[in-house]
Amino acid sequence: MQLPDYKKARTRGKEEVVKELFSLDPKYQNLGKGKTYFVKTYGCQMNEHDTENIKAMLEVLGFTESSSYEKCDLVLLNTCSIRENAHNKAFGMLGRIKHLKESNPHLLVGVCGCMAQEEGVIEEIRTHYRFVDFVFGTHNLYRLPEVLAKTIEEGNQAIEVYSQEGNIIEDMPVKRATPYKAYVNIIYGCDKFCTYCIVPYTRGKQRSRAKEDILKEVQDLIKEGYQEVTLLGQNVNAYGKDLGVSYGLAELLEEVAKTGIPRVRFMTSHPWDFTNQMIEVIAKYPNIMPSIHLPVQSGSSRILKLMGRRYTREEYLALFHKMKEQIKGVTISTDIIVGFPGETEEDFQETLSLVHECKFDNAFSFIFSAREGTPASKMEDLLSEEEKNNRLYTLNEVLNHYFLENNQKLIHKIVPVLVEGKNASKKTTLYGYTDTNKLINFDGEENLIGKIVPVEVTECKTWSLDGRLVKDRSQEEDKVLSTNH
Ligand code: 5AD
Ligand code: SF4
Repeated sequence: MQLPDYKKARTRGKEEVVKELFSLDPKYQNLGKGKTYFVKTYGCQMNEHDTENIKAMLEVLGFTESSSYEKCDLVLLNTCSIRENAHNKAFGMLGRIKHLKESNPHLLVGVCGCMAQEEGVIEEIRTHYRFVDFVFGTHNLYRLPEVLAKTIEEGNQAIEVYSQEGNIIEDMPVKRATPYKAYVNIIYGCDKFCTYCIVPYTRGKQRSRAKEDILKEVQDLIKEGYQEVTLLGQNVNAYGKDLGVSYGLAELLEEVAKTGIPRVRFMTSHPWDFTNQMIEVIAKYPNIMPSIHLPVQSGSSRILKLMGRRYTREEYLALFHKMKEQIKGVTISTDIIVGFPGETEEDFQETLSLVHECKFDNAFSFIFSAREGTPASKMEDLLSEEEKNNRLYTLNEVLNHYFLENNQKLIHKIVPVLVEGKNASKKTTLYGYTDTNKLINFDGEENLIGKIVPVEVTECKTWSLDGRLVKDRSQEEDKVLSTNH
């Protein structure tokens, strides 16, 4: 048994991160033969992508995917720690699974992801969730076959969580969620240690993948017909800093763009690491999508300081306006936390005034959630729950106003859309995303899925657009091709 240790997770050693290739011991190959699995994923894109690796590993072991957790032989929760409600959801799910296990004692139950890295969670699982068969963490995803084999062979709860990151594992098998849009990890972990955030503890220190491995993955995706890659990391703008070379996100983005893949996206960006050179590259290449997620967290410089964000309101605004000026048609989305310990009404008003100035195209807004082990969890928090909820409500009203206002500017414009799938319950048959990352619904044939097509915007709502497929472009010449820069 190997348990997490927060003290170790906090430390940032100088030891070199080396690359290792994934390999599977042939003795595990039939571990899941004739059995089915179900993976439930919580949280961010990083977790979604980890799930793609997990599913592929389980299939290499002989398991096949089940569409229901109630009818399978192995259920695995890939968990998230970012806020308390993510925690509660996972524990709620474990409660439901407990009942299943009572009627089916052969069901294998696993927990992985960020919660597995938390000391308190592991303690809870060891004492109150004995029916959980196996646990592995974010640093040893690749050891799923070994951990699973151990619990099957020994019949005990198998827990293997490393507190510190190990090597970067290349060539992990992957079962991608779609055949046209792919996530590509470029950097693992985070060294920023924003005071509210648990990620630097659960995901370890910043480690960049070698550019050759990233470019090869993109090349392979192009050969398979992929239309879009999203370069992933907790803070992609720090790419390369740990490699000790003068090759960063700007250079990487440029090389990825030059591969010719139709769409390149990246997330998430920290304003601190966003250089002029990156802006220039984004502006220069039409296949780098003009859509940037740039979390601000607060509009008050005083709160930003308490959050350890390393920029002031003025610096964020300067960066924001520079992007708007230099990248034609760019849309900027953000993350905002309300109710951070010590946030006064004045601080909150500054957040609102920043939103009025930036008029974000999209945003995720949250109430501060104290995460055990982080500095902010020890700060004095006097605000009532009611007041926090009121602030969130007020903020969302303002955010929503600008989402709609921005969307309305697109009326009758023709926008390029990557068609992602069929709508199950909507009036229109298809949906996709514009270059600026807006959801659009429209009618069309199923064979358009996975293609980039022109769509005229016919109706604008707060969180989505409705459109009409443009079949003959020559007849539409008087309409402006809106945002594609
Ligand atoms: N409480 C509330 N929101 C948080 N986030 C991260 N940690 C917390 C927390 N403790 C939000 C930030 C971040 C997004 C992914 O989640 O806004 O950008
Ligand atoms: Fe968390 Fe800050 Fe790192 Fe983002 S940059 S993952 S908010 S510590």
